Amino acid sequence: MTAELLITKAKEAMEKAYAPYSGYKVGAALLCADGSVYSGCNIENAAYSPTICAERTAFAKAVSEGQRDFVAIAVCGGKDGVITGLFPPCGVCRQVMKEFCREDFLIYMVGADGSAETRTLAQLLPESFSL
Ligand code: THU
Repeated sequence: MTAELLITKAKEAMEKAYAPYSGYKVGAALLCADGSVYSGCNIENAAYSPTICAERTAFAKAVSEGQRDFVAIAVCGGKDGVITGLFPPCGVCRQVMKEFCREDFLIYMVGADGSAETRTLAQLLPESFSL
């Protein structure tokens, strides 16, 4: 599984976003150590706080299917599904990554030109909390 293919799957997931309130459509594709990929989109709610981000949708799908070993995630998003720049994972999603991933877990943030900025989880969430 190449980064390019993971990015393509994140873009496909973005098309499924349910975002009638913010208009921001977000997609994620999570690569597991066994080579499988779980995608996710953001799912908003009229009460706002039940909204789940694309990244956490992907993790919830993967973990609930027994996956525990993760390699990388691609994330893209933009108003009305138009990618105009990077869509970095929010703090809550970074903490969920911390729960299941090692410091060298890779985050591909998709830019407007289709290429991606790559960061490790250690870079996006330094001095992180865990038990
Ligand atoms: N969102 C994500 O899906 N992932 C993030 O990491 C940040 C925010 C979603 C939540 C909401 O539906 C929309 O983007 C605007 O905040």
